[in-house]
Amino acid sequence: MSQKRVAILISGGGSNMTALIRSMTADHPARVVLVVSNVADAGGLAKAQAEGVTTACVDHRSFKGDRAAFEAALNAKLKAASPDIICLAGFMRILSAEFIAMWQGKMLNIHPSLLPKYRGLDTHQRALDACEKDHGCTVHEVTAELDGGPVLAQTRIKIEPGDTADSLSARVLKAEHALYPKVLRDFATKTSAT
Ligand code: GRF
Repeated sequence: MSQKRVAILISGGGSNMTALIRSMTADHPARVVLVVSNVADAGGLAKAQAEGVTTACVDHRSFKGDRAAFEAALNAKLKAASPDIICLAGFMRILSAEFIAMWQGKMLNIHPSLLPKYRGLDTHQRALDACEKDHGCTVHEVTAELDGGPVLAQTRIKIEPGDTADSLSARVLKAEHALYPKVLRDFATKTSAT
């Protein structure tokens, strides 16, 4: 069985990226071929290099607001690596419908809420403000609708009395690190069969 090629897009610390990379052992249906950051000093870049993964940076700021040019440069990096699957892992740029269409059905994202609740930012504080009993994380396919693509899997966690956005975020992040590798494995297996 040939392993599916995975590219991971990051903007920050890359803890989900690290969980994904470490899950792709020799007998895994997928292997990581590239990590790309849109932020030059993203902590995840050094972590990926420490794992022996090829990295690239396409710094959105150097395109001075020209999103089409930024996405063309990002797409060129991706195309050169020929990924079968692209995992967004804390990638904080909104991608255009045109860009997403080029990779539709191949792009996954992890989001720190139980979608369709709390799309966008500040999900932990918003869940607390709404006095939710549960919170969690979701892996979904990426479509042009922000955080709106088909849900592949979710992990639900209880909100405890005294939780803050930070304590909740830490528990959700731990759940993310378990969920995303599991979904990637299933997705790569399914993709391999077609
Ligand atoms: C995660 O909570 C992810 O769901 C969200 O941003 C955070 C990124 O963390 N989109 P990391 O970079 O994977 O550590």
